[in-house]
Amino acid sequence: MSSHPPRPVRKAVFPAAGLGTRFLPATKAQPKEMLPLVDKPIIQYGVEEALDSGIDNIIIVTGRGKNSIEDHFDVSFELERMLDEKGKSDLLAVVREVSDMIHVAYVRQKEALGLGHAVLTAEHLVGEEAFAVLLADDVIDASVPVMRQMLDVYEATGASVVAVEQIPGEAISSYGVVALAESGGKTPEFAEHRFVGRACRITDVVEKPRRENAPSDLAVVGRYILSPGIFKHLKKIGRGAGGEIQLTDAMRALAKEEPFYAYQFQGRRHDTGDKLGFLKATVELALKREDLGAAFRQYLNALQL
Ligand code: G1P
Repeated sequence: MSSHPPRPVRKAVFPAAGLGTRFLPATKAQPKEMLPLVDKPIIQYGVEEALDSGIDNIIIVTGRGKNSIEDHFDVSFELERMLDEKGKSDLLAVVREVSDMIHVAYVRQKEALGLGHAVLTAEHLVGEEAFAVLLADDVIDASVPVMRQMLDVYEATGASVVAVEQIPGEAISSYGVVALAESGGKTPEFAEHRFVGRACRITDVVEKPRRENAPSDLAVVGRYILSPGIFKHLKKIGRGAGGEIQLTDAMRALAKEEPFYAYQFQGRRHDTGDKLGFLKATVELALKREDLGAAFRQYLNALQL
């Protein structure tokens, strides 16, 4: 572990250029990142997690048809004036909070060549510093934001960190899967930290392996802290699984030359890129809401399923 604290992570990249085919027809004229979970678009959960973790420089990688994401984080003068004139100060505050929230830069990914390619598209905005990547599909409900938990590991090690979750059975082959440096995930060097037993160095990571070839049952979820060394690998790796430039392939190359940690986060992840996952997230997040929870619970109980 380094004795000097590493340079702080200031920037978070949100790849958001995907076509959202799993949610057609809802995503025909609307980006999947803008589908609402209760009353907030999916991407706003991730942006709030980054902000709550102390990262306020947001880079969104967009593509064709994604203008509503930019509009969402922009000031809407007409809407604000209308709410102001009607005396709807509570709604005005909600709307202003979104546009005041972030310093945001957009970069266009002109071709959908994969997650690795999306991250590489942001290189000139990131520069030579460690940065975060958040995949908005993975909405994680946690008392300490997961990116904040990961920054603790980064600040202790100066190394890249990827969030992982145990996934049983066949479903593991839908993910990147890590190989740990030590069995059991215990890392004695972290004995004094609260993430003891949760962070472990990785030796490898494989994108969407068949179950019998998976190096562990620890799946990569959409939260990364990456050293800028990732970019040179992203340029070299070429196409991998599914014919796409995979972030995972660049991570495995990086893990061979620099320390790279997997971190088993504390929190509940919802895969909102999946229809069932989206429904579950909607129900669970609505049940936790002060303004809706009690009435919604009563309604669900009355269904007598
Ligand atoms: C992407 C990554 C994969 C990771 C997953 C997490 O896959 O390529 O390594 O496990 O996100 O959500 P995708 O879900 O885009 O197929």
